Amino acid sequence: MKKSALLVFALCSLASLALAQPPLYLDPAAPVDARIEDILQRMTTEEKVAMLHAQSKFSSPGVPRLGVPEYWMTDGPHGVRPEVLWDEWEQAGWTSDSCIAFPALTCLAATWNRELALRYGKAIGEEARYRKKDVLLGPGVNIYRTPLNGRNFEYMGEDPFLAGAMAAPYVAGVQQNGVAACVKHFALNNQETDRHRVNVDVDDRALHEIYLPAFKAAVQQGGAWAIMGSYNRYKGQHGCHNRYLLNDILKRDWGFDGAVVSDWGGVHQTEEAIFNGLDLEFGTWTDGLSEGQSSAYNRYFLADPYLELIRSGKVGTKELDEKVRRLLRLAFRTTMNPARPLGSLGSPEHSATARQVAAEGVVLLQNHRGLLPIDLANANKIAVVGENAIKMMTVGGGSSSLKAKYEILPLDGLRKRAGGQVEIVYARGYVGDAGDSYNGVTTGQRLADDRSAAELVAEACDAARGADYVIYIGGLNKSEHQDCEGADRLSFDLPYEQNRLIAELARHNPNLIVVLVSGNAVAMPWADDVPAILQGWYLGSEAGHALAAVLFGDVNPSGKLPFTFPVRLEDNAAHALGDFPGQDEQATYRESILVGYRWHDTRRIAPRFPFGHGLSYTEFTYGNAIADKKSMTADETITFSVAVKNTGLRDGAETVQLYIRDRQSSLPRPDKELKGFEKVFLKAGEERTLSFTVDRTALQYYDDTQGTWVAEPGTFDAWIGASSTDRKAQVPFELK
Ligand code: BGC
Repeated sequence: MKKSALLVFALCSLASLALAQPPLYLDPAAPVDARIEDILQRMTTEEKVAMLHAQSKFSSPGVPRLGVPEYWMTDGPHGVRPEVLWDEWEQAGWTSDSCIAFPALTCLAATWNRELALRYGKAIGEEARYRKKDVLLGPGVNIYRTPLNGRNFEYMGEDPFLAGAMAAPYVAGVQQNGVAACVKHFALNNQETDRHRVNVDVDDRALHEIYLPAFKAAVQQGGAWAIMGSYNRYKGQHGCHNRYLLNDILKRDWGFDGAVVSDWGGVHQTEEAIFNGLDLEFGTWTDGLSEGQSSAYNRYFLADPYLELIRSGKVGTKELDEKVRRLLRLAFRTTMNPARPLGSLGSPEHSATARQVAAEGVVLLQNHRGLLPIDLANANKIAVVGENAIKMMTVGGGSSSLKAKYEILPLDGLRKRAGGQVEIVYARGYVGDAGDSYNGVTTGQRLADDRSAAELVAEACDAARGADYVIYIGGLNKSEHQDCEGADRLSFDLPYEQNRLIAELARHNPNLIVVLVSGNAVAMPWADDVPAILQGWYLGSEAGHALAAVLFGDVNPSGKLPFTFPVRLEDNAAHALGDFPGQDEQATYRESILVGYRWHDTRRIAPRFPFGHGLSYTEFTYGNAIADKKSMTADETITFSVAVKNTGLRDGAETVQLYIRDRQSSLPRPDKELKGFEKVFLKAGEERTLSFTVDRTALQYYDDTQGTWVAEPGTFDAWIGASSTDRKAQVPFELK
């Protein structure tokens, strides 16, 4: 062979060797950052911009040429949403997209059980994974500021510590599946009224002490891979492209390395979206020829308008590369993670998790005369009254609406559990919402009823008169202006004249049990006339089983309220100060840090039922609180312990709550704040000592003059209780 031919041969061999070598980004042994850079330098500007916005209602493109898969999102947060059409909100009509409906997040928060939150996250993540979803749009951790917020049921209550403590394991559980949790709605999305425009005027203390910590916990402790910007504005900028929230706090201060996803239709401006921290745009209502015309995705703010700015040289590509890096990191965590498990849908384990969360979340608010649990041995007839005993609640309420594989209705659950032992009669009592579908998912229920209100009440009272017990199952539902996205409640009162009906029932039967199905506190003008009250939330697929288990005593209730039930709406801070829902697109949070129990405790306004409250069928007694030292320095921790004994006759669980009180401080502080909790399961007669270790972060406040957290030396109290008003033990200590 000639020399030149030899050379050509050698070069060709080398080239083919190089060709056979897979690119670096496909090498699982290479560091992720190197793989990201490798893809990045292979991508065209057009491919990069294409990644930044939706291609359908719930998906966005990857990089088809390089094999980076599409991203599929799903709601969230209580179950995996059924498939919609590519370009429409309408149902795609699949028959394989029914899920297990898990209890609403208010119920999960009410369990105060971190381990259950992890199981919940793991289970819903498995369902998402099986359904080939990469990002689950949840959990929601917006703070419960007013009982009128239509979306409170999707969130974790009024306390940032509790919400963060429950959100973090949920996130971790979801992500064990190689599915990203997308924490929402960052931040200050505390009302639905005017949600796309309202500008929230909140001081820095309330922002940092109340509205941000649950997000921070989800990001830093839970390790969330995605976060969703909110619809509302803050400092005049929309949450989805808000420089302060996204660039300064989330990405810079908290070190968030995941992707910021817009809420659907939450993006309004290209330059802000480029520079203020948004990574992925969804749901923009375009003005493609006829406004939201199908397939107008290239008209999104982070689509052609962005490309044009780059091509004309008006903006550079630094931000573009940064966004793409974050999306590629998301891909390596999800779609390009070869180790992610396969997931599963509708499994018995998921039902069991849903059932346990439901049963543990139910809160026994009141139980005079020990009326509950129902004693079946001494009962012949039970009257069940109320529309929510027969109404499906997994359909409706906005984006969290589901197509559940099954939903055990309360009446069916009660009949299944006790129907063989006792006669159960049902009377509807009122007609509320007879709707039978949401967003194309039909319940199959026919709830229309032409009888007059008087006839319905008369029938219910007749049923009540001859019964040993009356179980009233009412509350709110998922229709507009109740517990539903897009609008707030119009009144604190129960709808459909339920107050009158409940008062009537109480007159006809002293053994009345009221079960409230709601995600919000409601007025209870009848509370003194009703011996037993249960907070029953939206319990999902296992609702009827869980309620029956609590009512008949198979499960000893252990839920505790994640928010305060005020007596009157005016007892709530935002309403007392007249700041809800704001005016002229401005909502001023004048109550500042005094949200929920912080307001009630500090202003000495007795609630109907306090934050952290929940009874049991057994009794718990507490010993004295002991601190391991009298004083601590800012670098030390301190441990408090307290013995808790189940002194009743049944096994049960108690959630012991640690609040910290600062006796004196330079800036005003709430009376006390939750800084620890432990849920302990105790057999009858069993005693355990619980301990809580805190460091200075539990003592500090946010100093808005310096923009830093400050733990001020002085005397503090560790206030240990069974609720925010039921103190069981207290021990003082010093911070030096
Ligand atoms: C809601 C989000 C939801 C999204 C997608 C929006 O209207 O605010 O919570 O994830 O729609 O359905």
